[in-house]
Amino acid sequence: MSKFSHLQRNIKYESLEDRFKRYHFYFTMQQEQLSRMYHSCLNEIRRGLEMHKESPNKWLPEKCSMMFLDTCVKMVFYGVDFGGTNLRAIRVELDGNGRTTTSQSRCNIRDDAAARHLPKGLLDKNATASMLFDSIARQIKKIMEENGDMERVDPVPIGFTFSFAIDQKRLDSAILTGWSKGFETGTATKDGVIGRDVCCLLDVALERQNVPARVVAALNDTTGTMLSAAYERPRSLPPCMMGVILGTGLNACYYQPAAGEYNYAGNIINTECGGFDRDLPWNIIDIEVDFASTNRGRQRLEKMLSGMFLPELCRRVVLKVFQSEAPKEAWTHETMPGECCGAIIADDSEDLAVVKEILEEMWQWTPPQEHVERVKALFVAVFDRSAALASVMIAALAKKTGRLQPAMGGLTVGVDGSLYTQNILYRQMLCKHLNSVLGEDTASLIHFAIADDGSGKGAAILGSAITAGTENGHRHH
Ligand code: GLC
Repeated sequence: MSKFSHLQRNIKYESLEDRFKRYHFYFTMQQEQLSRMYHSCLNEIRRGLEMHKESPNKWLPEKCSMMFLDTCVKMVFYGVDFGGTNLRAIRVELDGNGRTTTSQSRCNIRDDAAARHLPKGLLDKNATASMLFDSIARQIKKIMEENGDMERVDPVPIGFTFSFAIDQKRLDSAILTGWSKGFETGTATKDGVIGRDVCCLLDVALERQNVPARVVAALNDTTGTMLSAAYERPRSLPPCMMGVILGTGLNACYYQPAAGEYNYAGNIINTECGGFDRDLPWNIIDIEVDFASTNRGRQRLEKMLSGMFLPELCRRVVLKVFQSEAPKEAWTHETMPGECCGAIIADDSEDLAVVKEILEEMWQWTPPQEHVERVKALFVAVFDRSAALASVMIAALAKKTGRLQPAMGGLTVGVDGSLYTQNILYRQMLCKHLNSVLGEDTASLIHFAIADDGSGKGAAILGSAITAGTENGHRHH
């Protein structure tokens, strides 16, 4: 008898069906877990505000897992939107009636010609800050040329949406505190981005490329989305008090009443809630996904629910359940594209023809019907958990705006990001969970407004507001 035999006695053989049940259960959220996390979110928000009060503009991870960054925003023109799959330069003309006319140019930053030799293109750790910011400057140049703005004497003001954690003490200065979403630009070079002012980096690149433009404001994509939804929302909706991104990454900003008491310069707080990590119902797959990521131990909530990680969670749960019956193609990292996951969960045909077709195409896999059904059920569970966790965070932040009571008339939440905008099912799941977290009456006070391309437009709106009105001092390079 080995000295471990007393342990072995308790280990039972687990069939595929058992494993299916177990993993399906892992992703099925219990009301109790969610309400615990909801209270944890509320506590964390309190801690975030207190942290900023005690030490403004300094993130103390031991105090709060979210950064709670000051945006310096108190509630034609150009905007740059950088931070997802695409780099977008956008030209917006505001007509004052809440309507915007835009023209834009976009490119995929992974394919940028200057960095094509690098495995991850401009995201690569060997791509330099200069390469990245030159590429952004070229996009702006392109659209300015198309619109005949290159001959201007005064530089064109630019609002710069930079969708990462940025430390701001003023509107036109933004220090990148760290990358997320798989970006590693410059980390293996002497010309990195982390710790530097991205407004200066872009200004210098604009000068290098002879583009008559200057960055007047930097903002996170959540802030851009909130501003754009506030500007464009139908007047029948209550005021827009939150901006949420459910896309490649996850994040939210919200309007905090009396933010000055907590030493904020603005009253919109960029929570960086993708970093939330209290009372999260982690399972073994979440731990593996985190381990395989470029920023281990960080952005834990983001990794459980955002568009960049959902396909990986889906792929890995298939491996866990089907083990040796899973096709060998499925063992390769990141072989399940996001669009396919969306199509799988949306397939409501009786024989699940779409699911079968995708499994065949992606993984050369033609499993028996009951396996096809299991695959779909697992994918749905992964997405449903994502919506459940997102709804908890949205509920908690909405509560903090102070408008979540009938007498206040509720609030509008501006949302952008393909997970939400491209996926009706996801939206339904989110509403279902909001109802169960807050109760239907309270949940009905939250109105969602899709802010299409909101982050770019928001940047231009902010850029224009600044040049139209306020005195904005000069940044020291
Ligand atoms: C990541 C970034 C955050 C951004 C979000 C959505 O979480 O850290 O700044 O808002 O992605 O793009």
